[in-house]
Amino acid sequence: MQIHSAIADLRAALHQRGRVVFVPTMGNLHAGHISLMQQARAHGDTVVASIFVNRLQFGPNEDFDKYPRTFQADCDKLAAAGVDVLFAPTEADLYPEPQEYFIEPPAIQNVLDGEFRPGHFRGVATVVGKLFNCVQPQAALFGKKDYQQLMIIRNMARQLALPIAIVGGETVRADDGLALSSRNGYLSATERAEAPRLYRELNRLRDAIRGGATDLARLEREATESLDRAGWKTDYVAIRRQADLAVPDGVNAPLVALAASRLGATRLIDNIEI
Ligand code: PAF
Repeated sequence: MQIHSAIADLRAALHQRGRVVFVPTMGNLHAGHISLMQQARAHGDTVVASIFVNRLQFGPNEDFDKYPRTFQADCDKLAAAGVDVLFAPTEADLYPEPQEYFIEPPAIQNVLDGEFRPGHFRGVATVVGKLFNCVQPQAALFGKKDYQQLMIIRNMARQLALPIAIVGGETVRADDGLALSSRNGYLSATERAEAPRLYRELNRLRDAIRGGATDLARLEREATESLDRAGWKTDYVAIRRQADLAVPDGVNAPLVALAASRLGATRLIDNIEI
């Protein structure tokens, strides 16, 4: 696996490498990332991953400084997964001067996670746009666990006419249902045992809708109360339309239930399509 940090070196390395497929990450890789790397192979000739912890998408009180950096272990996993090229820019490579131009997503950036993480999706869209310009892929893969992020990037690619197919990868889960996430590493043993409750609540909600329940606000409230009774601090449990994350006016359109809740100091997100 080739590793490049300078944009010019990366571009030279990708010259005439056929169809390039790209998986951006912030490192601290787990089986969910590796599954995206393996799926990537079906979408191109050269698989490129990136590792870059993007300061722009972290709020002032978020975990930028303590975000786990595990570069050597990540490289070993990427090489074992058959990744051809790793782009691992430093901050000086990607932000050699203060970033003053941004990609500003529309109102969808202010709902759900955006309501609780102001500026987050602007930071994500900006870095992903910039990484796309560096790598110039024909396809890019993003995990469905970050459902709103995937939708914002898909809409961005369509509206800006980027010649990049955006592919969503299914969420990879531990045996007890917990969605794999770099942030799971922050959980204590007790919190880790409790964490699968989030997915259980989403399953309960899905089963209720499949079973004929139609009062969505009540289902959201009950799931929130159930989490909070178990010691969580819930930002939201929301049932939305898959197409645009708008509030549905019934249960006939394809839906997705999304949740974000804090267990101790760790904020977990998850979702389930209905
Ligand atoms: O999902 C992530 O890991 C990040 O938001 C991304 C897409 C790599 C942008 O920094």
